[in-house]
Amino acid sequence: MKIAVIGTGYVGLSTGVGFASKGNEVICVDIDKKKVEQVNKGVSPIYEPLLSEHLKKVLKEKKLRATDNLHEAIGKSEIVFVSVGTPSKEDGSIDLKYIENVSKDIGRSLTNKGYKLIVVKSTVVPETTGKVVIPLLERYSGKKAGRDFGVCMNPEFLREGKAMEDFLNPDRIVIGGIDKKSGNILERLYENFDSKILRTDLKTAEMIKYASNAFLAIKISFSNEIGNVCKRLGIDVYDVMKGVGLDKRISPHFLRAGAGYGGSCFPKDVDALVRKAKDLKYEPRLLEEVQDLNRRQKVGMVDLLERKIGDLKGKEICVLGLAFKPDTDDIRGASSVEILSKLTEKGAKVRAYDPKAEGNTRRIFPDVDYTENVKDAIKGSDACLIVTEWEEFRKLEDKDFKKMRSKIIIEGRKILDPTKVTGFEGICW
Ligand SMILES: NC(=O)c1ccc[n+]([C@@H]2O[C@H](COP(=O)([O-])OP(=O)(O)OC[C@H]3O[C@@H](n4cnc5c(N)ncnc54)[C@H](O)[C@@H]3O)[C@@H](O)[C@H]2O)c1
Repeated sequence: MKIAVIGTGYVGLSTGVGFASKGNEVICVDIDKKKVEQVNKGVSPIYEPLLSEHLKKVLKEKKLRATDNLHEAIGKSEIVFVSVGTPSKEDGSIDLKYIENVSKDIGRSLTNKGYKLIVVKSTVVPETTGKVVIPLLERYSGKKAGRDFGVCMNPEFLREGKAMEDFLNPDRIVIGGIDKKSGNILERLYENFDSKILRTDLKTAEMIKYASNAFLAIKISFSNEIGNVCKRLGIDVYDVMKGVGLDKRISPHFLRAGAGYGGSCFPKDVDALVRKAKDLKYEPRLLEEVQDLNRRQKVGMVDLLERKIGDLKGKEICVLGLAFKPDTDDIRGASSVEILSKLTEKGAKVRAYDPKAEGNTRRIFPDVDYTENVKDAIKGSDACLIVTEWEEFRKLEDKDFKKMRSKIIIEGRKILDPTKVTGFEGICW
């Protein structure tokens, strides 16, 4: 099928490359000309395992190209995916400015081009597709949704770091349709995917995405809460969660206690759901507590550090790991951002190392001293905080910490091997 994907970020690029590698003809659209150029040259603008290889392959097969010309891309496509960003406003509510702009642009391009299916893939709070996207599409095209063009909401569940793998083999494909015809067209596009398909209406599809992310955020926060109690009792929360996760009703996933969840999705999506609930005059207390606990958990490493070494002013602190999780360069919502803010606010001299996320972090914290490797970050430091579970940090041994001024090691993810490293402390173990 002929597809346009509007917004070539983590989701849009994975979607475009994914559908192209399934044999479709894809045009990726972005307003960022540099991204368009990079994609056409086979250079992925983001670090994501397997994405570059797949991108190069589909470019060679001429199954994908990128452009900043939305009008042309829509003209040549049967299905148009919207995968622009949906960040948070100051008050935590969803910022729909990119969705609104793109809906208007698509509307303008829909005139006299035959029937097309518009698919919202961005994460949007329930009612957005029905009450914001469709009215704008109709107003700017002069056409009627359902009659002249189709509309679906198709949330994306991929994980950064595993984007290609997840896109091509999703646990489920949720298709919310304005009508049967729209859903059928999208279902046909997914027919060579070996995944369960769930058909719903638009707002149910939107809510499935939020409920999934909120549930995972709750699961992590639950483990953190139990971990905080376990630490006071001298119990290893990882042993506890191993026992808990063996229960089929619970599953072992997302039970790893640590320095809080981050990323471009969980924090902003929980915030947006909280605001939506409040707009509907409902107080979502469980979700609010989860947000609060997560904020405390993120800076808990700095609190623990202060309890160990006192005033941080002038102290040299090494931070290992900046990305919100390994195998990505994304620092949106990352625990490292809160930790670096708090450390610098308290006058600490921060040295940081991350194999992929230095560039993105440098934009927010230009004054941090970034090193090329772990060794240089650790050397001469008064304390070391391990914030992201990059594989290379798992291999650290006592000898690697020898050049520290004082051996204070706090880990926010349980990765150090106690048979190889001594004298470290975990945030909640
Ligand atoms: N990142 C994830 O892991 C993930 C997973 C599932 C769902 N989502 C959701 O998917 C959506 C996109 O997320 P992302 O992380 O890919 O965002 P992103 O910020 O990486 O990418 C968005 C892209 O859209 C482009 N854009 C903005 N306005 C445009 C316009 N008018 N025309 C063309 N391009 C435009 C931007 O330049 C940018 O490249 C969000 O709603 C997010 O919540 C993200």
